[in-house]
Amino acid sequence: AFLSSIQFAMNLLSLSEFIFSFIFNIYCYCILFDMYKKTAKSLFKDKTNIYVSECLSTNDFLTQLSKKTNLNEGSSIITDYQISGKGQRNNSWESNRGQNLLFSILFKPQIPLKYLFKLHIVTSLAIKETLKEVGLNNIMIKWPNDIYVNDKKISGILIESQIFNKKIKQVIVGIGLNVNQIKFNEFNATSIYKETRKKYFLNDVFDLLKKSIENRYHDIQISMEELIYEYQMNLYKFKTNQSFVHKGRSFNGRIVDVLHDGRISIEVNGENQKFDFGSVRFL
Ligand code: BTN
Repeated sequence: AFLSSIQFAMNLLSLSEFIFSFIFNIYCYCILFDMYKKTAKSLFKDKTNIYVSECLSTNDFLTQLSKKTNLNEGSSIITDYQISGKGQRNNSWESNRGQNLLFSILFKPQIPLKYLFKLHIVTSLAIKETLKEVGLNNIMIKWPNDIYVNDKKISGILIESQIFNKKIKQVIVGIGLNVNQIKFNEFNATSIYKETRKKYFLNDVFDLLKKSIENRYHDIQISMEELIYEYQMNLYKFKTNQSFVHKGRSFNGRIVDVLHDGRISIEVNGENQKFDFGSVRFL
């Protein structure tokens, strides 16, 4: 009895040692990851940041500039007004002078081309987080990368990439975020002001957004599965019946999956159909 109680005590000891070392390892891992995030090169610090009172489009401006000079990753341009602001699918992006955020950032992501959609995901999540910080709720990402608040569009992202030899050379991420505008031509547009009844200094929101983008940008190194999962958790009308339009044809279905290359899978009449990036409109 004496020997078996010693053995029992030793087993208990090794179990507690195991639990202790397990917790300790996780703790170390968290500290290391945090240190990595803090010591990783700062995305925006000491980088070219241009302000122009107006331009055609910040995306075009940055593209042209990057052809003339060797810009660092994190270089950005911000304006008060775009004469021909661009949206996705050759749409235009309208915004009153000096009332909203209109800017573009240059990225040189060290990821294979097949993971380019990660940049769409992390940018959308960063905008969502910033909106949460200023007190908005019910913020969703509408596929592929519009940001919706209470069923209205508050922000749009235009990502233009330069590919060379099947590798990502650079990516320009253009963001339009409605901050203080009250009246819109689009019936389902909104702004931070319309949602909170509070006016914001554009620079304050820009700083918050940059911080969030910088934080989220590190996440392009985590697995596609994890990112897609988080994206789907924040996806507007995910697994919900909805009317869509594709090539002029309307149909009902529900989004059931988002693929690694940014396509979506919609279940239509019990069958899953895949649609190219941005090729389906919500009705
Ligand atoms: C969309 O929702 O269709 C995308 C809109 C993207 C608008 C921004 S504003 C800053 C940048 N410059 C542009 O010309 N477009 C993007």
